[in-house]
Amino acid sequence: MSSLEEPLRLDKLPSMSTIDRNQRFSSGACRPSVDNLGMGNCWIEGRSCSTSNSCNENNEEYYVETFPWKRQTRGMSRGDSFSQKTMTVGRNSIKIGMIDDPFSSSDYQYSPKCNSKEIHNMAYKFMKGIPKFVKIVEVGPRDGLQNEKNIVPTSVKIELIHRLASSGLSVIEATSFVSPKWVPQLADAKVVMKAVQNLDGIRLPVLTPNLKGFQAAVAAGAREVAVFASASESFSKSNINCSIDESLARYRAVTHAANELSIPVRGYVSCVVGCPVEGTISPSKVAYVAKELYDMGCFEISLGDTIGVGTPGTVVPMLLAVMAVVPVEKLAVHFHDTYGQSLPNILVSLQMGISAVDSSVSGLGGCPYAKGASGNVATEDVVYMLNGLGVKTNVDIGKLMLAGDFISKHLRRPSGSKTAVALNQVTADASKI
Ligand code: HMG
Ligand code: MG
Repeated sequence: MSSLEEPLRLDKLPSMSTIDRNQRFSSGACRPSVDNLGMGNCWIEGRSCSTSNSCNENNEEYYVETFPWKRQTRGMSRGDSFSQKTMTVGRNSIKIGMIDDPFSSSDYQYSPKCNSKEIHNMAYKFMKGIPKFVKIVEVGPRDGLQNEKNIVPTSVKIELIHRLASSGLSVIEATSFVSPKWVPQLADAKVVMKAVQNLDGIRLPVLTPNLKGFQAAVAAGAREVAVFASASESFSKSNINCSIDESLARYRAVTHAANELSIPVRGYVSCVVGCPVEGTISPSKVAYVAKELYDMGCFEISLGDTIGVGTPGTVVPMLLAVMAVVPVEKLAVHFHDTYGQSLPNILVSLQMGISAVDSSVSGLGGCPYAKGASGNVATEDVVYMLNGLGVKTNVDIGKLMLAGDFISKHLRRPSGSKTAVALNQVTADASKI
């Protein structure tokens, strides 16, 4: 894999390598100034020069290359009419046109507190909660395909699972043992399960909404199942045709039966931030359902933002409420990407200590009973971000992309993964050279 294909890792951030160069500048006439990110620390930004000949245009060029987002700041600065401020770079004063621009160097000159130790401390502060290893639960064959209108051939589903397994994913949600009248796409659950049950070293959970589904799953060779409740009454009714408490009673029967066979049960809570009918869902409702599932014996609780409306601003309070009643190591997060918030939501979840993330190859997905639910966060994008953070997943992104290409071609649609699209472009460009 070329360096272009690899995300820039935090330990190799330009700012880190820039520190030395900036310190060299600052020991002479050019000094770094600090920002006002409100993190109680310094981030290298801009320079002011006390002598006219000690900073030259090359330095500015270097700076722009090192901090590409500066280009945007400058681009925006020219010819704008609102709230212009002045920023000093080299000998040039440039106007920046961002309202409340945090990088106004006249306000934030060099601070003697800004040294590499503090910057390392800041990196530590940012990274300290993030686990070294994240378990990815691939839900593409189930959550990804359940919403597809055209029936995907069983052989394609089986091939997809094999390809995903060969990428290093260790948990792949294979299918659902639900009513074929409700989800016709997964009516072939039994055949799929029988075909993949012996995949070596791979866990293949399946959804089971009741005892009937559980028994069918076990008969087909399932060795792990998942039950799915909701934090919204309306969604519970439309998705599984019963109230939250009725669903919990069904799931107690499933977990009891599973326990007798030593079959692990995963629990989902849907609509953890918002519901298509009820709107905002309170964190206490999510915590209630999560705890019920945990208490009945679910080994892991996956918190699903079914319609993808969460932002870190709503996800953090929800997680705090759940973490007060279920141990954090028993939690997973499951984001749909309707508003493009999945990656920041995953990042804050990791910072809060969660180390299991659900995702779907090529960003496939959606729930047939949740209006507005779009695809899950793409597994390729999650792996790319985790690689960038230096977090291990054991997933080979190249092989994962092959699985994504396979299913996207079959569905005759471009991948929903930005990473896959970008890396495929890099490869295509490289082949032209
Ligand atoms: P119901 O109609 O209330 O069930 O459905 P029922 O007990 O009245 O039975 C009606 C018929 O369904 C009967 O057949 C049953 O035998 C049959 P009939 O006598 O009419 O021929 N039936 C079943 N057939 C196969 N497998 C079964 C089963 N159970 C009953 N397990 C039920 C209730 C829960 C079954 C139905 O509502 C259903 O299957 N719902 C599934 C909905 C679903 O799969 N939604 C998508 C998954 S959830 C999701 O995507 C969210 C998640 O990703 C997390 C997130 O994003 O937040 C997990
Ligand atoms: Mg889902």
